[in-house]
Amino acid sequence: MAYKVSNPLEIGDLPLIGSNDKTQISLINKIDDFGNSEVGLANMDVLDFLKTVKNPVARLIVASPPYNIGKPYEKREAFEDYLDWQEEVLKECHRILLDNGSLCWQVGNYVEKKEIFPLDFFFYNIIKKKIGMKLRNRIIWRFGHGLPSSSRFSGRYETILWFTKSDDYIFNLDAVRVRSKYPGKRYYRGPNKGKPSCNIKGKNPSDIWDPVPEWEESVWDIPNVKAHHPEKTKHPCQFPIELIERLVLALTNESDLIIDPFCGTGSSLIAAISRKRRAIGVDKSTEYINICIDRLNRYYNGSLKRRILGTPIFEPKPTDKVAQIPKEWEGLDHF
Ligand SMILES: C[S@@+](CC[C@H](N)C(=O)[O-])C[C@H]1O[C@@H](n2cnc3c(N)ncnc32)[C@H](O)[C@@H]1O
Repeated sequence: MAYKVSNPLEIGDLPLIGSNDKTQISLINKIDDFGNSEVGLANMDVLDFLKTVKNPVARLIVASPPYNIGKPYEKREAFEDYLDWQEEVLKECHRILLDNGSLCWQVGNYVEKKEIFPLDFFFYNIIKKKIGMKLRNRIIWRFGHGLPSSSRFSGRYETILWFTKSDDYIFNLDAVRVRSKYPGKRYYRGPNKGKPSCNIKGKNPSDIWDPVPEWEESVWDIPNVKAHHPEKTKHPCQFPIELIERLVLALTNESDLIIDPFCGTGSSLIAAISRKRRAIGVDKSTEYINICIDRLNRYYNGSLKRRILGTPIFEPKPTDKVAQIPKEWEGLDHF
């Protein structure tokens, strides 16, 4: 049975579909438990949950699945077996997606004996060739920091494959436009000569995105507090909320249902509800679901710290401590 978690505050003016029920977070074992909640959390295996969904319900399914690289939340298996499992999950996702819905699969590399296998190559084959969805963008999520590599160039991007179920899909470009770099540019010839040449509503954000995970920013802002930053949870692979927020705004409308079948700490759920959508997250780990509940409660009581979509990326000034050559390197052959 669905029940309220902890002590949620009032939702305010958020419209809930078909009811004035104020249930915010429900723990569910099947879609029928979701009712009029704003967020449903299913602490169970992804396929077990998806199989409870009888009809197409989701406008957007967005997730970063395990990459089969031996993270604490996954058991490494033969690459082919991993892909077969993912294919089964993706077929279920396609089945429960509304006809004008979108699927966004965020992936990096599978690595075996130091050789990399870009997962989006393999997922493209599954989602396009075996399931028949249409690719609209291969978005590059670029980030500034991460583990350095000594046997190849350090990886500094991952991708999001955005597929639609049909040619009739939602794309709210105006909701996600960004400020033009040179809004003062003007046409220098032709009938519009002298008039501003940029779109007054801003420009298309393009398919290369730079959202910064909150903990990464904190490392630059306040050196040495990484482990204590409130946004850094125990989860090793958290999404930045704003990464998903842009997808939510562009690919769904208010009150739509968004499902993250591998929700981890619930970043995509927060992105959804902060933009007046509803969301269901599935994760088999009770530890991560608890982190998720904690973050959602902090979102509802206003104490969740987060970057807002479109915040400029922090660049250290030459005078900042982090931008200076360490004293220990003085007199040595350094770069
Ligand atoms: C890459 S992480 C997702 C992180 C998430 N995007 C976030 O922002 O926190 C993948 C998640 O899939 C979950 N997971 C792995 N296998 C699963 C399964 N069979 N069913 C449900 N969840 C699973 C893991 O517990 C992990 O939290």
